[in-house]
Formats: sequence, structure tokens, C-alpha cells
Amino acid sequence: MQITFTAPSLKGPGALAVAAFEDGLSPLAAEVDKATGGALKRAMGTNRFKGKAGQVLDLLAPAGMAATRVLLLGFGKQSAFDGRAAEKAAASVVGRLLTGAENAVTFAIEPPKGSKLKPGQLAAHLALGAQLRSYTFIKYRTKQRDEHEPTLANVAIGTRDVAGAKRAWEPMRAVAEGVFLARDLVNEPPNVLSPPEFASRAKQLSKLGVKVDVLGEAEMKKLGMGALLGVGQGSERESQLVVMHWNGARSKKDQPVAFVGKGVCFDSGGLSLKTGAGMMGMKGDMGGAAAVTGAMKALASRKARVNAVGVVGLVENMPDGKAQRPDDVVTSMSGQTIEVLNTDAEGRLVLADALWYAQMKFKPKFVVDLATLTGAIMVALGGEHAGVFSNDDKLATRIQDAGKEVGEPVWRLPLNEGYDKMLKSKIADMKNISGTTNAGSIVAAQFLQRFVDKTPWAHLDIAGVAWQDGEQRPLSPGWGVGWGVRILDRLVSDHYEK
Ligand code: BES
Ligand code: MN
Ligand code: ZN
Repeated sequence: MQITFTAPSLKGPGALAVAAFEDGLSPLAAEVDKATGGALKRAMGTNRFKGKAGQVLDLLAPAGMAATRVLLLGFGKQSAFDGRAAEKAAASVVGRLLTGAENAVTFAIEPPKGSKLKPGQLAAHLALGAQLRSYTFIKYRTKQRDEHEPTLANVAIGTRDVAGAKRAWEPMRAVAEGVFLARDLVNEPPNVLSPPEFASRAKQLSKLGVKVDVLGEAEMKKLGMGALLGVGQGSERESQLVVMHWNGARSKKDQPVAFVGKGVCFDSGGLSLKTGAGMMGMKGDMGGAAAVTGAMKALASRKARVNAVGVVGLVENMPDGKAQRPDDVVTSMSGQTIEVLNTDAEGRLVLADALWYAQMKFKPKFVVDLATLTGAIMVALGGEHAGVFSNDDKLATRIQDAGKEVGEPVWRLPLNEGYDKMLKSKIADMKNISGTTNAGSIVAAQFLQRFVDKTPWAHLDIAGVAWQDGEQRPLSPGWGVGWGVRILDRLVSDHYEK
């Protein structure tokens, strides 16, 4: 799908998208209404179209217009108009037209009076919504391809500031590429996406100037990563630690920011085996690692002026004669010992070593980890928010703000000593589960905090948002959402670029 910015026009090509608000048609939509002899207003009356946010009116082959159809998009109150609203509206248009035999769409939407959004920015947000919604993952279909094959090839966005739109779109396009990479990784089936295969896909970022190091089991053993290695020891595939460096700051010596991802390429539960139904979707248990890899791609693609490291711990959690047992005691890289009472609480074991490594090796400004860590976070927050836990109020607030700005909202949950005590073990420094199901997401976060020194740290539990089965997010048509790429990118662009 090709996106271009052009001078405003009501002539098309293809379908024409115009805006309405609760208090009436936008000036461009009013022009369309006039050209069609009042067809828009008549159609509004017969369709209960009130210009509410998300409403769409679809007028086919209107007389008096060159366009194949007119899509009237509701935006609600003019005061609520912002970049997010534009993204959603463009996404809904692409959602309708992508495989619907339409070849082109032209947007004729301008910021309403009093809007803070400049015309160029608005155009770029429309482009981002269109682009994110155009994602497909159909490479494994060999039949019935036709009806799934996208027909929409051209998206033209009319704007009074073509140059400004192009400038604003360039970094957003980079972010969309990062999101697509994260979605691809999450969607890829687990027979294909083993830890070594994930590592080789991460290696491809070197084309963008990312330095990618891959540590295998022998190297991790030398580093003492007994917690991560224990999880992978029941798998036929080798565990990997991938370390990605993007050095975009003016000085190479500038302290980096660090992102750490849980990359469990498949989580069977290990010997604490999940049920058949509980195992479905567990190819997505590397969603944290996918987000980190996608964010690194975004930062490199837009040449962000920041030094960033991404560390992802890649393992497969399988039951086997060599698998780790419930009751095993492992020694982490930090030196702390862990009694593994449930092999299905494996993500925290992977992160324990990946977090410690990131802090010791890179002394980052902060470390943010992302993980599909607990089913309990879905009980608490569903698919609307990811959970955030942090030892640093400033970092937590920055993450919350970034999430709001890009439509990846997070909700903060508490940490404290009382929860931490639930991890006391009779024979080791800690156990990996508490023994009750109460406060499961918090206990998991407390476990991670034991592997954080003085570094400002935040943990995002993304189990509820990394993939979606039922109702879809407006900007995410598939299963893998690519959640996390945008919030990390925004966190960096808001505060850590010079
Ligand atoms: N990967 C799962 C968490 C998960 C569950 C993500 C459902 C997405 C959907 C994690 O490794 C896990 O199994 N957690 C256990 C922890 C428990 C054993 C303490 C859980 O949430 O049940
Ligand atoms: Mn598990
Ligand atoms: Zn898991």
C-alpha cells in the first residue's frame, strides 16, 4: 500500500473520505454535500448518522462526484479532535476498503477550527492509522487467497502542508515498521520461530545500523545465567540472549536506555504442564521480546538521537527428560538462588538473568522490561491497559504519559514488602511462586525487583494486550498487536533524545 501526500482535492482518486462532527459537516464535507445536491445530508437523516466518534456513512457512486464513493467519518466533538482520533478514523477507512475491491482512497480532512493539530501533523496521523490498519499476515494461506488479498493500493492524503506532512510522517513510518516487525514475530508459529530463528531475525536489524550480538548457551553458562538456562533445558532448541545496540546519541559514551523482553517462544508450562486450552496462543509468549526488537527497529529506522540497548531472553519452555523439575534450585547470574516450585512461572526466571545482565553490563539510565508475564494481569485489567510496576515515580509517570499519547495505556499497580515476603523459600533465597493465586501479577513483579539494583526500573506486564482473539483494536487487524513498540518509542522521543 502506497501512501502519498497531495494538495487537498475532492476529486479522488478512488473513494473520498471527509469529516463530520456532532455539530455538523466539516467545510470540505459541506462542499461534497453541495456538489451532490444534498445527498450527504439526506443520507445522514436515514442512517442515524450523528457525527459521533467512530460512525461511518458510506455513500456509493454519488452523482456529481468523480469519487467511487464518499465515506463520511464521524469525529464527535470538535474539541476532542486529536492525532489519535485521526489515526482511528483512517484505520476504519482502510479496514473497510482494504480487501473490498477498492483500489484507492483520498482523504480530504482538515483540522477543525481551534485544533492544536497542524495540517501536516494531522495528515501524518491519518497516514499512520491507515498504515497500521493495512497489516496482514497471510503468508501461510495457500487457498482462498483472493478474498484476503488486499486491493487497496493507494492512499492519498490531501493536506495544505505537503512538506510538513512528509516531515512528520518520516519518523512515524519508522515506528510503523517496528510495529509490523513485532506483529510478525508474535504471529509466527512456534515451529518456525524458535529462539535461534528469532535471533536471526533480530540480526537483520544490522542493516539499519543496529549492532546485534547473540549469546548461546555456552556463553550464558559462563556468565552464570542458571535461571534463564534452566527454563530452556527441556527444549531441543538452543536458548539465546540477543543484545541489540543502537548508538544514535551524539556521544557514544552517553549512558544508554535499556529495554528487556521476555522471549518465551513457546510456553507449554514445562513439567508443570499447562492444559491443552491453556497452551493455545502460547506462541505469543515472546511478545515482550517482539516489542523490544520492534522498538529497536523503530529507533534505528528513524535515527533516534539516543543510545539504546535491547536485551531479549529467548527460550522454549518444554517438558522433557532433561527439563527442569518443580523443586529444582537454580543459581541466577546475580548469585541469588531460586527454588523453582512451578516451571510454568518461567518468564520471571528468564527476566531475572536478562535484567541483571542489562544493568551490570550497560549501567543504563533506566531499564524497562516487557513481558507476557501473568494470566492474573488479564483478570485485573483485561485488554484495555497493560500493568506497570516501578521503583521510580518519575519513570512510571513518563511511561503512563507516553502510553496515553500513543494509545497504549498502562495502569500502575503497587509494589511493597508485604508482597515481597510471599516469595520466601524454606531452602533458597526465594521461590518462584507465592503459593497462593492472590495478587499474582504483583508477586511476579516483586520477584523481578529482586533482580534490580539501584537502576530506575519499570516492568510492563503485557499478557492482556500482546495479542487479541475477539474484538479487534482499531489500529490492529491481526492477532499479534505489536503492543509496546509505540510506547517505548514515545518514551524515548519525549525525554531521552538530545
Ligand atoms: N506466559 C504465562 C502468562 C500468560 C498466561 C500470558 C495467559 C498470556 C496468557 C506465564 O508464563 C505463566 O504461565 N504464568 C503463570 C504463573 C503462575 C504459575 C504463578 C500464570 O499466570 O498462571
Ligand atoms: Mn508459563
Ligand atoms: Zn510464559
